[in-house]
Amino acid sequence: MFKNRFLSRKNIFLSSIKLRMKEKLLQYLVITLIIVVCQIQISCDTDRNSRGYEYTPDMVYSKAYETYAPNPIFKDGKTAQPPVKGTIPTNMVPYQYPDTPDGMELAGQELINPIEQNKENLARGKYEYNIFCANCHGFDGRGDGNLYVNGKYPSEPPSLITEVILNRPDGEWYHIITLGSAIMGPFASLIRSEDKWKVILYIKQELSKNNLNNAQ
Ligand code: HEC
Repeated sequence: MFKNRFLSRKNIFLSSIKLRMKEKLLQYLVITLIIVVCQIQISCDTDRNSRGYEYTPDMVYSKAYETYAPNPIFKDGKTAQPPVKGTIPTNMVPYQYPDTPDGMELAGQELINPIEQNKENLARGKYEYNIFCANCHGFDGRGDGNLYVNGKYPSEPPSLITEVILNRPDGEWYHIITLGSAIMGPFASLIRSEDKWKVILYIKQELSKNNLNNAQ
């Protein structure tokens, strides 16, 4: 069995221990392998609705309430609480003129268009106008927007490029865009404050000129 015939008794003894250890190690390896295979078998669940064993459930499921989940702590039972009364978003100036003819007149006297007239601002005004106003008042401002022409909108939108309407102070325009006018709905939160001023700039500076020249 051993090639070296001059092995001492001690060496033979040690070698036999090593051999036995190797056998044991092999045994352990086989047993571990069997356990691992069994574990894989057990953890493969055929029921797709079950997640099986979860290793860190407290990390998967938050203890905090989900935004729209019911909440027993608050009086109204909701987790998502409304902002405190009177809260306003950063940079937003609440509109302070009442929705009355007097309110509009006052806005006309007090509000000043803060936007500088330049290419960029006019382009932005045109962009917003084409999105929010043109469907009724028309791309050229004459009141021939798609919604009205196609018969979807019942009330004829006025032309925006008549002397009377163009001569309204910017503040009145801002008032109308913000709070609406009769059947025309308000654009209070749909258009940013500075963009409302840019729309007015665009209508008065560009749309008016282009169209008054070749209108009527
Ligand atoms: C859904 C259709 C619709 C849209 C969109 C719309 N308007 Fe109007 N608008 C009307 C109608 C209808 C009137 C007439 C309401 C009335 O009798 O006062 C009107 C009236 C106005 C007036 C008042 C004109 C006057 O008689 O003094 C202004 C100014 C005006 N719109 C500007 C705008 C601007 C600017 C936008 C885009 C931000 C816009 N409108 C978007 C339908 C619309």
